[in-house]
Amino acid sequence: MILPNNIGLDERTQLARQISSYQKKFHVWWRERGPTEFLDRQMRLRTPTGAVSGVDWAEYKTMRPDEYRWGLFMVPMDQDEIAFGDHRGKKAWEEVPSEYRTLLLQHICVQADVENAAVEQSRLLTQMAPSNPDLENVFQFFLEEGRHTWAMVHLLLAHFGEDGVVEAEALLERLSGDPRNPRLLEAFNYPTEDWLSHFMWCLLADRVGKYQIHAVTEASFAPLARAAKFMMFEEPLHIAMGAVGLERVLARTAEVTLREGTFDTFHAGAIPFPVVQKYLNYWAPKVYDLFGNDGSERSNELFRAGLRRPRNFVGSESQIVRIDERMGDGLTVVEVEGEWAINAIMRRQFIAEVQTLIDRWNASLRALGVDFQLYLPHERFSRTYGPCAGLPFDVDGKLLPRGTEAKLAEYFPTPRELANVRSLMQRELAPGQYSSWIAPSATRLSALVQGRNTPKEHE
Ligand SMILES: [Fe+2]
Ligand SMILES: [Fe+2]
Repeated sequence: MILPNNIGLDERTQLARQISSYQKKFHVWWRERGPTEFLDRQMRLRTPTGAVSGVDWAEYKTMRPDEYRWGLFMVPMDQDEIAFGDHRGKKAWEEVPSEYRTLLLQHICVQADVENAAVEQSRLLTQMAPSNPDLENVFQFFLEEGRHTWAMVHLLLAHFGEDGVVEAEALLERLSGDPRNPRLLEAFNYPTEDWLSHFMWCLLADRVGKYQIHAVTEASFAPLARAAKFMMFEEPLHIAMGAVGLERVLARTAEVTLREGTFDTFHAGAIPFPVVQKYLNYWAPKVYDLFGNDGSERSNELFRAGLRRPRNFVGSESQIVRIDERMGDGLTVVEVEGEWAINAIMRRQFIAEVQTLIDRWNASLRALGVDFQLYLPHERFSRTYGPCAGLPFDVDGKLLPRGTEAKLAEYFPTPRELANVRSLMQRELAPGQYSSWIAPSATRLSALVQGRNTPKEHE
């Protein structure tokens, strides 16, 4: 059966044959490494229509997850000239130029690898789904991450010959967290074992996905740009699932904290604010690592090849960026031209974006009279990659004096706190019901604030 597509697959017999042979292997991977329950449950799921506008690209249908069919979709380029880099103004490439073949192959493999990894690391969440709408959301996430794999596999099979076939198969062999054959990026080897981790992941890592995918939406290699543009339709929902999910956690915790008069809310069925903060401290640095090294040669190469650039970045020589550089057991700050700091620019745009959300939540918490403020740890904190790797920076980006490194452990959840979170994660799938630790889907912190300010007679 031919895959749903808007790329004219029925006229491309050789590609169609390769795709259908890959499809069988992909389904084996999905059965072994994807979600194992609820595949035959009716849910409201969105699926692409094949249209390419931002409104009608998808439709919602009541269907079973095992009826979803991963498809190949692209959005045409707005312009066919290369937009930036050394080849700016020349015609965009429909085939991979030999000089950039390895660079592009590696880039596409990494993008594809994270998609499968995201499914593997969160596959057990169905066991503790806090409500029906959340269960539907996590299936939407599983299915669309799978579709993103297809978006990249399409490029591998159509443009990279035998190497593409080999790399597409390797995607089904590497396994998140497997010490012998792990996923390519470190952060994707940590399981999201509970829903708070999953929300952190969608809030942060899917947002990195948005930055990484957006960065290639004008790529000089036109098929990559077209695939990325379609992925950009899908990604915002994943980020919203994380942001809204976390806000619902905060809303429930706020209610319980105010009612009980203590931050120690586990016994009352809510995740304490300090524990939410510790989860943020755990996931944020792993996600910062996903942007790569600050002064990365490969990113410079991708930029100069016209393949990848940060949002609003023109690459003028006058744009000077301060980045960290490793010096023995410490750092020095150096000034470099923007095109040598692509990853740092993207990471800082990302941090600023997340910070605006946190500021908004903090404003609501203050308005509610909750004496707790969340923070986003500094970009140097707890990094395992880049110039700060392994250096004991605290959450404010200050280097801890020698001998006090043990203090870092205080920023992360203790085994007991993790166990307490896990014990709250009870599956709740009765219609209209939610597990104790999370507010209903429609609840927002801001709405709680409004509710508090509404005089009784107006309620
Ligand atoms: Fe994705
Ligand atoms: Fe995603």
